[in-house]
Amino acid sequence: MDAILADILDLARWAPSGDNTQPWRFEVLGSRLLRVHGFDTRDHCVYDLDGHPSHLAHGALLETLAIAATTHGLRATIQRLGGFAEEQPCWEVTLEEAPRLAPDPLAAFIKTRSVQRRPLSTRPLSPEQKATLQAAVGPEYQVQWKESFAERLAMARLLFANSKIRLTIPEAYQVHKAVIQWNARFSEDKIPDQALGADALTRKLMAFVLQSWPRVEFFNTWLAGTWGPRLQLDFIPALACGAHFLIVAPARPRGVDDWATAGRVVQRFWLTATSLDLKLQPAHTPLVFAAYARADLAFSNKSGAMGQALAIRQRLIQLWGPAAEGSIFMGRVGRGAQPMSRSTRMPLEKLTHVAPTSPFTREESSP
Ligand SMILES: Cc1cc2nc3c(=O)[nH]c(=O)nc-3n(C[C@H](O)[C@H](O)[C@H](O)COP(=O)(O)O)c2cc1C
Repeated sequence: MDAILADILDLARWAPSGDNTQPWRFEVLGSRLLRVHGFDTRDHCVYDLDGHPSHLAHGALLETLAIAATTHGLRATIQRLGGFAEEQPCWEVTLEEAPRLAPDPLAAFIKTRSVQRRPLSTRPLSPEQKATLQAAVGPEYQVQWKESFAERLAMARLLFANSKIRLTIPEAYQVHKAVIQWNARFSEDKIPDQALGADALTRKLMAFVLQSWPRVEFFNTWLAGTWGPRLQLDFIPALACGAHFLIVAPARPRGVDDWATAGRVVQRFWLTATSLDLKLQPAHTPLVFAAYARADLAFSNKSGAMGQALAIRQRLIQLWGPAAEGSIFMGRVGRGAQPMSRSTRMPLEKLTHVAPTSPFTREESSP
């Protein structure tokens, strides 16, 4: 592969994706031409509703690629191709010399940007920091903030209720069991348990309990099994941060393109937060459960789950206003240590297929 292209893709792969799934593969067609083949996990991941969280990740990847390209004086032109199944969207990326193009300063933060799930400083963000983060998402998207103790407490309660759904439905259990790598500080294609934000004892207990669904149900029913993790992973970190944010789109995103555009915005926001020395943790699952509730779409065979999702949706609207319904991303930010443990990425060789040996199939008809 062309050395410059390899360098760009090597940086681009550090884009974030839900549960570190890296739902993209690169097909190199020339030294300045490639295709990004996306996929989603909707068939086995309850959080990947209609593949939209994966589309957010696709957008983050494309934005990171475009930013990385600027460091070589290259402008990326990105176009989604027709003729591919909705579950496997494909983008063609052309890189062109642009001598007057300045390197994007966010490129320096691509590798250091990482999710921090541990408690952060409660020091409020400065008005300048908030203005910089608003500027990062552009004029069409709005960033809303919840900062006071009372507001953070309301978010802590919301996230505590939300994680009750996550820890008690079998559909989420399957996901958690598959995506956590136990006894690990780093993980190429999963989340290492040490990056979850739980102490060593809680991690041991979680590893034991998550071995089987009957064990989860027993702990949940008789030993208040959800309380420890919910307090440690949701409630306390939600209080311990500078602010919660909600990014609101100009109109509620609908298809692949809207969500991928939103993903580009999210990545600029996250990289900008990193450039301000702020740490960030997304809290995306409440938005997903609220979307299930809005669409009245059953997502679990556990009785009562839809009622709980409805309650999450109502709480979101109460807290953030009707804008919550058009939001693309939510999370918390604040000053904090660089995480000691993190997800790494699959090597470029595993993510790349050089034409013409592409394993990707094209559908005959347009989606
Ligand atoms: C669309 C999307 C949703 C995410 N949702 C959550 C979330 O709800 N909670 C969380 O702790 N991390 C969430 N993450 C963070 C990912 O787990 C994380 O980016 C991934 O594991 C890679 O780790 P890194 O960001 O440290 O490189 C989300 C990331 C993306 C792109």
